[in-house]
Amino acid sequence: MVTETVLSGIRATGRLHFGNYIGAVRHFVEHQQGGNRCMYFVADLHTLTTLRNPEELRGNVVEIVKDYLAAGLNPEESVIYAQSSVPEIPELALLLSMAQPLGELQRIPTFKELVRKNPDNVTLGLVSYPVLMAADILGPQATIVPVGEDQKPNVELAQNMARRFNDRFGPTFAVPKTIQEMVKVPGLGGGKMGKSEETEAVGINMSIPEIRQLYIQRGITDPARVRASDPGDPYNNCLSVYPLHEMITSGEVETREIANLCRTAGIGCVACKHRLVDSIARILEPFQERRLELADKDDYVREVLHDGGLRAREIIKETVEKVRDKMGIVVY
Ligand code: TRP
Ligand code: SF4
Repeated sequence: MVTETVLSGIRATGRLHFGNYIGAVRHFVEHQQGGNRCMYFVADLHTLTTLRNPEELRGNVVEIVKDYLAAGLNPEESVIYAQSSVPEIPELALLLSMAQPLGELQRIPTFKELVRKNPDNVTLGLVSYPVLMAADILGPQATIVPVGEDQKPNVELAQNMARRFNDRFGPTFAVPKTIQEMVKVPGLGGGKMGKSEETEAVGINMSIPEIRQLYIQRGITDPARVRASDPGDPYNNCLSVYPLHEMITSGEVETREIANLCRTAGIGCVACKHRLVDSIARILEPFQERRLELADKDDYVREVLHDGGLRAREIIKETVEKVRDKMGIVVY
């Protein structure tokens, strides 16, 4: 019995970084347990709103799927696909767009932000981005959609579209829930570890010594700890090292011990950073081993995407046929 349908997508703008892994993909893997139906896809059509180099896009899709697989997504347990392999998704987006007020799309914060940053590049695709995203979500009847904070308005729009459609045409779509398990992972400078802020991010393929050097040289700690004998405030003043300890260092006991040592000046920041990088290594080393095995397996990855695409189509087709029918569209 399928209990929940978990769905999430990632744009193919580049390789994953450690923040994506800890904040998102790790949870995708966990959802594979417990009888859920999991659907994880690469949003290659969405990527076209910003990345328009065909060669780069083609490469990114395959590399990201390798990252997914190395992180533990299993094509036997999850449906792994490229958005563009399912033509019913853009079809559903078109059907949904007919009832979608334009003003609501123009008021979404991420859209406004992109217009502000790049007023000369406001394409139709950018405005309708959330409609395509709603089709991604509603097509497979997703019930759980793990996304980061920035994507919440888009998921809320999908919820509204589902409710509106159900009210008008009778029960058709599941109304998805967003969940707040995707956390912001702090980068080296204490900001969000993001792809665009290169200096903040720990690459998923960086060597452990490289990461160690990065943290030792650039990881932001409590600025009030000038000497090792100065007590620190890990919770409020250590912006990059301690918060990541809380996310990845095993067990509450160990993180509490680190916090106590910090507050009593029982540990220096360099030693504390070494412990953090040891924790990173425990997660990254097995990942990197599996990733290396996949490095030259492009054909295998394409096969995974092909099979996943077929399975996703079967699932999504069912919904789209209902929607077409309810709206009065007949396939002759
Ligand atoms: N817009 C999402 C992002 O930029 C990616 C995405 C596309 C997505 N379709 C989705 C996420 C559907 C969740 C569900 O991160
Ligand atoms: Fe941060 Fe650790 Fe230094 Fe405390 S000891 S300020 S937690 S790096």
